Amino acid sequence: MGEAGESPEPERPAWSPGSWRAWPAAQQPEWPDADALETALDRLRRLPPLVFAGEARALSASLAAVADGKAVLLQAGDCAESFDFSANAIRDKLRVILQMAVVMTYGSGVPVVKVGRIAGQFAKPRSSATEIRDGVELPSFRGHIVNAPGFSAEARQADPNRLVDAYHQSAAALNLLRAFTKGGFADLHQVHAWNQEFVAASPEGLTYEVIANEIERALRFMAACGLDLGKESALHQVDFWTSHEALLLGWEEALTRQDSLTGDWYDCSAHLLWAGERTRDPDGAHIEFLSGIHNPVGVKLGPSTTAEEAVALCGRLDPQRRPGRLVLIARMGAGRVRGALPPLVRAVRGAGHPVAWACDPMHGNTYTSPNGYKTRNFEDVMEEIRGYFAVHRAEGSWPGGIHVELTGDNVTECLGGSDEVRSDHLVERYETMCDPRLNARQSLDLAFQVAELLRS
Ligand code: PEP
Ligand code: CO
Repeated sequence: MGEAGESPEPERPAWSPGSWRAWPAAQQPEWPDADALETALDRLRRLPPLVFAGEARALSASLAAVADGKAVLLQAGDCAESFDFSANAIRDKLRVILQMAVVMTYGSGVPVVKVGRIAGQFAKPRSSATEIRDGVELPSFRGHIVNAPGFSAEARQADPNRLVDAYHQSAAALNLLRAFTKGGFADLHQVHAWNQEFVAASPEGLTYEVIANEIERALRFMAACGLDLGKESALHQVDFWTSHEALLLGWEEALTRQDSLTGDWYDCSAHLLWAGERTRDPDGAHIEFLSGIHNPVGVKLGPSTTAEEAVALCGRLDPQRRPGRLVLIARMGAGRVRGALPPLVRAVRGAGHPVAWACDPMHGNTYTSPNGYKTRNFEDVMEEIRGYFAVHRAEGSWPGGIHVELTGDNVTECLGGSDEVRSDHLVERYETMCDPRLNARQSLDLAFQVAELLRS
């Protein structure tokens, strides 16, 4: 309740999965055919949930440990997944995330909570609703869940059938991820096998091999001491969670279900959902939607975020101040994090919200190279992470984790790193659907440096 002089919070109508419709919804596509959209959403409402509410609760418990300084979050994957997907691409992405997690766990001695931007990360916010090429104006590409990237009127028309296709692709990807992570691929005894050939001979690959050898020795040692390692499920399986930006609210609403055990509502499209920098208005539809689901939720915070906004978002999303509910993902830019982050950390702590903090060192460091590619420099990415850690160290808060865009492939999308991708290399393997991603070597390099920062 407000003190004298403070204006009281206006009453909000009760939350329901569709209550977001009463609030302004940024970044929604224009669907040309309302009936076709309704048919697709109706189909989605009748399809089984992709994840189970109990899993979302388990992730909340792990994130509570992150908020409490006892674990680290690694959230990673594509900027935008493509409908053109393959088992190999999923395996290779999982592989590099498992490698990074091993490096970070080994280096820091704390558990790593592994969350993919995967199995549903399809929809993209755009800075402009339309794109103009040679005088022709068409709707922007908004991700394969909405339209196609080709520059023609047909490709760019929003197609509701894609909503249903996105569900099926998410289900297939999730099925494979569950198989890999529970069926032996993620077994710690496979730690060497995660090193892909093209990485193995690189400096990062060789440093990784040293850790893998030590882990192998430790496993042999424990077995020699008489421990029955076969019984230790933690050595053979990992928990790997899914996440995406909750951007297309109709899609998210259609996959939101009431948990039969607790009666609470969960968005069963993924374990964790987040609001982006462009859709985090505390009085907007996205925050209204996220406020009522019981999954853990994230919010991106860019450099213009004020302390008041950060506290308002915490109030909307975590009024009960529950550890594990809210992840605040700072994406400030290498040059701004040291100035922009401290007031937010202080204000959120002052308001008593036990959030997990994370650093997205990608989205504040994007620029266009002289030869016309949207790119990021690995040094800027690392500089933002160093600044982020320095802020938390100075504030006495736990740095929480990192949120990165990567792929397991040998792409050339981000500049720098020890393989020295230069701007004239970008043309070689520039394959992203949206933002430039770290390749496997750059990702591993980043993990080593983050482990070092966690240790000091
Ligand atoms: C993203 O995560 O791909 C994204 C669009 O980020 P942000 O909302 O921080 O700009
Ligand atoms: Co992105």
